[in-house]
Amino acid sequence: PIEKRINDLVSQMTLKEKVMQLNQFLLGKNNNPNNMGGKVKRVPAEIGSLIYTGIDPVFRNAVQRKAMEESRLGIPIIFGYDVIHGLKTVYSIPLAQACSWNTELTKSASAMAAKESKLSGIDWTFSPMVDVARDPRWGRVAEGYGEDPYTNAQFAIAAVKGYQGDQFGGEFKIAACLKHFVGYGASEGGRDYVYTEISKQTLWDTYLPSFEAGIDAGAATVMSAFNDISGVPASSNHYTMTKILKEKWQHDGFIVSDWGAVQQLVAQGVAEDKKEAVAKAFNAGLEMDMADKVYKSYLEELVNEGKVSLGNVDEAVKRVLRVKFKLGLFDHPYVPELTDNERYLLPEYLKIGEQIAEESIVLLKNENNTLPLAKSKKVAVIGPLAKDTENLLGCWAGQGEVKDVAASIYSALEKEFKTNQLSYAKGCDFDGDDIGGFAEASNIAQDADVILLCLGEKARWTGESSSRSTLSLPEIQEQLLFELKKLGKPIVLVLSNGRPLELNRIEPLCDAIVEMWQPGVAGGNPVARVLSGRVNPSGKLAMTFPYSTGQIPIYYNMRQSARPRFGKYQDIQTTPLYEFTYGLSYTTFEYGELKASVTQVKRGDKLSIQIPVTNTGKREGMETVHWFISDPASSISRPLKELKYFEKKNIKAGETTVFSFDVDLERDFGFVDDKGDRFMESGIYNILVKDKNITIELVD
Ligand code: IFM
Repeated sequence: PIEKRINDLVSQMTLKEKVMQLNQFLLGKNNNPNNMGGKVKRVPAEIGSLIYTGIDPVFRNAVQRKAMEESRLGIPIIFGYDVIHGLKTVYSIPLAQACSWNTELTKSASAMAAKESKLSGIDWTFSPMVDVARDPRWGRVAEGYGEDPYTNAQFAIAAVKGYQGDQFGGEFKIAACLKHFVGYGASEGGRDYVYTEISKQTLWDTYLPSFEAGIDAGAATVMSAFNDISGVPASSNHYTMTKILKEKWQHDGFIVSDWGAVQQLVAQGVAEDKKEAVAKAFNAGLEMDMADKVYKSYLEELVNEGKVSLGNVDEAVKRVLRVKFKLGLFDHPYVPELTDNERYLLPEYLKIGEQIAEESIVLLKNENNTLPLAKSKKVAVIGPLAKDTENLLGCWAGQGEVKDVAASIYSALEKEFKTNQLSYAKGCDFDGDDIGGFAEASNIAQDADVILLCLGEKARWTGESSSRSTLSLPEIQEQLLFELKKLGKPIVLVLSNGRPLELNRIEPLCDAIVEMWQPGVAGGNPVARVLSGRVNPSGKLAMTFPYSTGQIPIYYNMRQSARPRFGKYQDIQTTPLYEFTYGLSYTTFEYGELKASVTQVKRGDKLSIQIPVTNTGKREGMETVHWFISDPASSISRPLKELKYFEKKNIKAGETTVFSFDVDLERDFGFVDDKGDRFMESGIYNILVKDKNITIELVD
C-alpha cells in the first residue's frame, strides 16, 4: 500500500513540487516563541526537509501544519538534526562508545536519543558516522567508532537499530543517516575536506563494510561525503551512490548531500558552475541537496533542457516519500507538545549515559597498583580539566548544556571520596604559555600523597574542521607534568580527549594513566568511580595510540610488510605506544588454549572455536575477548590480522568463563575483490586471540 500511495502522489505532482521534495533548507531557531509567525511564514510549504535547529515541538508543529495544510498535496516535512551522541542528554563521544565494546549500550543510548529527539520535533538524525579512520589528526575521529571496519560495522548496526527500532517506523523512532559515504576517513594528512586516494580494493575491504552493515540493519538514509575519491568526488560519484548503494545493495531510501557538498563540486574541480554541479550530483544518484539551495535553483531547468531525466527525478522523489511514509509522517505528522522537563534528561537516559561512560574508560597504565586510590590518601587534584565541565561534553554535543553536566572530575571525587583530603589547583590553561599557576600546583602537591593530574583536549579540538598537526598535549600541559614530577610523588594522569594522543614523553613519568574520553553529561562521575575502585575499568582501545605522530598511518590491520624485521625507524620504536584493543583492569585475566571443533574444514562446514578465560585476580571484572583471523597467503594480500568477532562478559574472581566464536566460513575466511564480489580460497587460516593461535585448514 505504501508504494501505491507514493505512486499516486508522484503522479499528481508538478515538476516544481517534485524538485522541492529534493531540497533541505535550514530552519533556524525561533527566537520569539510567542510570535513564531514570521519564521513559519518564511518556510516554503512544499519543502521536502529542514535542518531544524529550533528544537521546540510547538514550533515544529506550526511549521509542519503549514506543510500539511497549505501545500497543495499535504506532504509532511522531514525535520533533520545532528543528534550525534545524544540531543540534550549527551552521551560519551562515539569513539569512546566503541572502547566499551558493548554495542547494547550504544543501541540503548541511540533509542533514548531517538525518543528525546522525536519529542523535540526531530524525525531524522545525521548519525551514525561510520567512517573508518586511521589518522587521529583528523578531528572527526571523535564522531566515529575507530580504525577497524568490523567494529564500525557492529556499532553502525547498534546505532541504526537504536534510532529506528528493529522495525523502522515505531513510536518515538527517528530515521538514521549513515555518513559520510564514502571514504571521508581517509582524508590525506588528517586535513578535513581534502582529497582521498582509495583503491577499489581498499574501498571494498576497508571503507564500505560499515555502510553495508548499516544498510542491512535498515538505515533509511545515507549522507554523501565531502571528499574526492581518487579524482571523483563522493557527492558526484556514480559508482558508489548508484552502482553500489542502489544497485548492488538495493537501498530503497535516499542520499542527502553533506552541507553544501553539491555546489562544492565546483571548488573540487569537476564542474564549471553550480548548474553543472547539480547535473553531476543528481545524475550520479544524489537525491537531496542539503542547505545550498542549488537543486532548487537548477534542477527544473536541467530537466527542461534534457540534461536530467524526469524519470530519475520521479525515482528520487519516490525515495524521499518512501522514507516519510515508513517513518509514519503522513499519518502522524505532529509530535506531542511536552514541556522540557517531560522530554529531556530523564533518569533512564542519564543512567545509560553513566554506564556507557563507565564502560568506555580505558586504564592505560597502573604501576604498583597505584589505582584504585585509597580513601585515606591525600590527593592533589590538578590541571585545566579538573574543574572543567564544558569540555567533557565533547564535540557535536547537540543541544547539550554545560549546566547539565553532572559533575566535574573534582566535584565527582568530592562526592565519591567523602573526605576533606582533596586539594585543587588549576596549574595552567589547556594551552598558551602562562606558567603562573605552576607554583600553586607544586605547593598543594607537596602536601599530598598522590597527584591526580587532569589533562587533555578542549571539546572543539575535535569534530568537523578541527584537525591537529600533532597528537601531543600542548606544551604547557606537558610542562606542568614535568614540574610536578620533580616532587617525586606518585602521579595519576587522567585524560579527557577526543582522539588518540601522543604520550611518549609523559607516559614514563606517570604511575597510572586513565583515559576517560569525553563522557557527555555524566561528567566526572564515572571516572571518579573508577579512581575509587567502586568500578573496575573494562574499556579497551578502538583506535591505536601511536608512539609518535610521525608513525601515522599506524593501525593494527595494516597489510604485511615485505621485510617485517627490517623496515624500522632509526629514531623511534616501530610499534605504537598502545595498540588497538589494549586496556587494563584492576583484576587479571588468564587466557587458556584455543580449541577448535575441527581443524580441517570444507566449504559449508561448521566451525566453532573456544577459549577459557580465568579471572586470576581478587575482584570481579568485565573482559572483552577479540577474535582475529589472519590469512597468511592468498591471491590478494590480506591485512596482518582482521577482527571478526568480539564479546564482553563479566567474570567473578577465581572463575573461568568460556568464550566461543562460531566461524561463518564465507563471512570470516572469505574476502572481497575490487568489484565487491566475495570469494574464499583454500589454504591455511590462523585464528588469534591475544597471543594464542590456532590454525585451521580449508580444503577443497
Ligand atoms: O551532519 C553534518 C555533517 O557530518 C558535517 N557537515 C554538516 C552536516 C549537517 O550539520
